[in-house]
Amino acid sequence: MGEDPVLRAAYRLCRRTTRAHDPGIYALIQLMPAILRPAGWALWAAASVLDDLADERGAEWAERSARVEAWTRALKHDLAAGTSTDPIRYALVDTAGRWRLDLSNLEGAMARARDDDHGLRLPDWAAWRAWSNEEIVPWVDQVRQLFEQAGAPMTLRLDRQADYEHFVDGAQLTDVLTDLSTDLADGHLLVPQEALEPFPGAEADLVQGRWSPAVAALVAELTALARRRVTRPAMTRGMHPGAATVLDTAAELMRAQLDAIDAAGPTLLKRAPRPSVVARVRVLGPARLRSALAWSLTPLTVPGPRPPVVGVRGPSPEAGGVAGLRPPPPHRDGVRPPQIAAHHMPCHVAVIMDGNGRWAEQRGLPRHEGHRVGTAVAHEMVYGALEIGLRHLTLYAFSTENWQRGTEEITTILAAFQRELDEGPLRDLDVRQRWSGRPDKLPEELVHALRREEHRTRDRTGLTLTICLNYGGRDEIARTAAALAQAAREGEVDPRLLGEDDFARHLPHPHMPDVDLLWRTGNEQRTSNFLPWHATYAELYFTPGYWPDNDRRDLWQAITEYSRRQRRHGAVPSSSPPPKTTVRPLAPDLTPGSR
Ligand code: IPE
Ligand code: IPE
Ligand code: MG
Repeated sequence: MGEDPVLRAAYRLCRRTTRAHDPGIYALIQLMPAILRPAGWALWAAASVLDDLADERGAEWAERSARVEAWTRALKHDLAAGTSTDPIRYALVDTAGRWRLDLSNLEGAMARARDDDHGLRLPDWAAWRAWSNEEIVPWVDQVRQLFEQAGAPMTLRLDRQADYEHFVDGAQLTDVLTDLSTDLADGHLLVPQEALEPFPGAEADLVQGRWSPAVAALVAELTALARRRVTRPAMTRGMHPGAATVLDTAAELMRAQLDAIDAAGPTLLKRAPRPSVVARVRVLGPARLRSALAWSLTPLTVPGPRPPVVGVRGPSPEAGGVAGLRPPPPHRDGVRPPQIAAHHMPCHVAVIMDGNGRWAEQRGLPRHEGHRVGTAVAHEMVYGALEIGLRHLTLYAFSTENWQRGTEEITTILAAFQRELDEGPLRDLDVRQRWSGRPDKLPEELVHALRREEHRTRDRTGLTLTICLNYGGRDEIARTAAALAQAAREGEVDPRLLGEDDFARHLPHPHMPDVDLLWRTGNEQRTSNFLPWHATYAELYFTPGYWPDNDRRDLWQAITEYSRRQRRHGAVPSSSPPPKTTVRPLAPDLTPGSR
């Protein structure tokens, strides 16, 4: 913070605002190392200010919405300028610069604050989760970014992602229960209809502020659910102990809060219950000791001075991270992609990149040479996909069956992936990288690099590139079935009512759209355990050439071929295509224009 007295005062105001608005969050921030706390206050103060602007009593919705909008716009401006006349924004701008935080993912949450929630009714838990995630997850992600920048990542093991999501659900549900009285006074009932249905009369009673046996039973059910959701002992295993203490303590505070809700009875409808001072001290006292010890053992890193901002007037620098992206390099012969009508474009192309080994053997080279050239060809396809405007490209890089190959080949393939991820040749493109597959058997360092690149590129909006590495289609289905069974056991889904959408929601990558075009090179006509769920209605396209002999023109050719196919999805052929494509409800990145 240096000597700037205005900045110091700004952070002090953030601290006071956080403490007044949310003592629980304030206590959790106190468990962070001292150098990170100001950033925590700035983030929470900003969230609180937006909350207050959005909920201001006595103001019309349009007026409140305009105020949130003005604040958000001013923040964008201030981020680009690197300073602000508003103290809370000034602290936030300083925090973003100091810790290199990319605040662009907050835009969705800020836009949400402008929405009119009045009379909002959420049909089921899925809709509730979508609503709640949009509000809370982006802020939590900022804190995770902060820890990462400081060198104490809150990295979750891949198999703990579901735990984290449940934890966030539990936190939100605890909040909803706490704020029941104020929300009801404002006309909100933020409990899904699905949860109300088993308690006839509860909704009417709640709306009229009446504490009845039905309401009491509903509240008991919801607190029990929230308690199960926040109790995720395995979630923080293997995490930095300081970061783990923050999350574990958050869970303990929420359980204390749920105890207070259980004990409140009818007063729950009159005011927000708070745990007793004794209960809080019992949680926070030992947590402070634990966290102080954990952080004292970790040398934290403060990022060096910020590099000068280039192209402030370039493409939305205020969105953070977007500036500095480069376009794909042109094809070596200067060839440009064909023009394909939007309604004939596939949304999702998946590729089985086959024939590396035979390509090499044909030339008397070791097989790994084929894989090396194959990697360069994969880059070509990414360039081609960006140029033609494809939304999703999924590449099959290593299957769960490929472990049957010789150790030497496997080792060289995996080492090449590691190099690729570390060198990041695609990093400056507008590509969001995802990984699909199992972490086990893969070197830990490789899993870390895959997760790191996912995180690094998560806000990119151009092409979504999914690398299927240690991927097996049956494994994906089995894991989904396991997740569903767990959800059924926790009462989240009713096994008698399970449908395709429930299945799709529990896939490891629920947002991945159906495959429109499945292309395999290398002269084989089989799908080799690739994307069985997503590709049931894909157009299949097989080409004889080995993968290393292809370039982006072959991708364009595949897409051109696709654009001529007539897709019927079981219906009677229509004389006037556009081809019908399936859109799963949970795929928010499928904007209508993208197909
Ligand atoms: C595909 O090429 C790449 C991987 C499976 C890693 P192959 O290695 O299968 O090449 P062929 O099929 O043996 O020629
Ligand atoms: C499929 O190719 C897997 C990848 C391209 C990664 P394979 O070469 O392993 O498939 P099979 O063995 O011919 O079915
Ligand atoms: Mg093969």
